[in-house]
Amino acid sequence: MIVAIDGPAGAGKSTVAQQLAERLGFRYLDTGAMYRALTWLALQRGLPLADGDRLGQLADENPVMLDEQGRVWIGGTDVTASIRKSDIDRMVPVVARHQPVRQVMRTRQRELADDGNVVIEGRDIGTVVAPDAEVKVYLNAERDVRAQRRLAERPEIGADALATDLRLRDQSDAARMRPAEDAVQIDTTGLDVRDVVGRIEELVRARQPA
Ligand code: DC
Repeated sequence: MIVAIDGPAGAGKSTVAQQLAERLGFRYLDTGAMYRALTWLALQRGLPLADGDRLGQLADENPVMLDEQGRVWIGGTDVTASIRKSDIDRMVPVVARHQPVRQVMRTRQRELADDGNVVIEGRDIGTVVAPDAEVKVYLNAERDVRAQRRLAERPEIGADALATDLRLRDQSDAARMRPAEDAVQIDTTGLDVRDVVGRIEELVRARQPA
């Protein structure tokens, strides 16, 4: 079974998707980490981020690996910590926007999704990567709350810079921030993680054979 969790930055996707996968005994696939890893490699190699064809080729030649411990690898390097830095936050939408990059990533994500029970988080999972997912959820929250959550993760950046970053990322990601028509939409603004996980778990159990 595929459980697709989409939504904007700071909506609570990662925490919810990880906890849900743990409760259900499903694998967890973070597609944002794949775009982040590619961005890290492109910066490392000094490639122009405007060159979509070159970046698509880079993605094709350097598949992102997600290991059992939840670590992220690209080109033989463990980039788990590096991809959470603010320079990557800022540059990843530029890389993720290119169609050649998205084609390579989506093909790889479909291969990874095809293998047993999985919770996948991203932006376009329910709409493009796995339109047949049995459960689709779109998480959202008010922008102030999303900014506060990011601030808790990245206190070194500062509230004003973070609010600006979030606004810019929302703009760049906007083309992909569309809920699937059959997604269940959950506003996480006033909810705690346990409640959100519980609601999605109910949706999954309802789809599982008794
Ligand atoms: O969820 P995140 O912040 O780790 O995502 C990083 C970036 O990758 C974000 O700018 C949106 C983009 N992304 C995407 O375009 N499609 C996905 N399926 C996942 C992430």
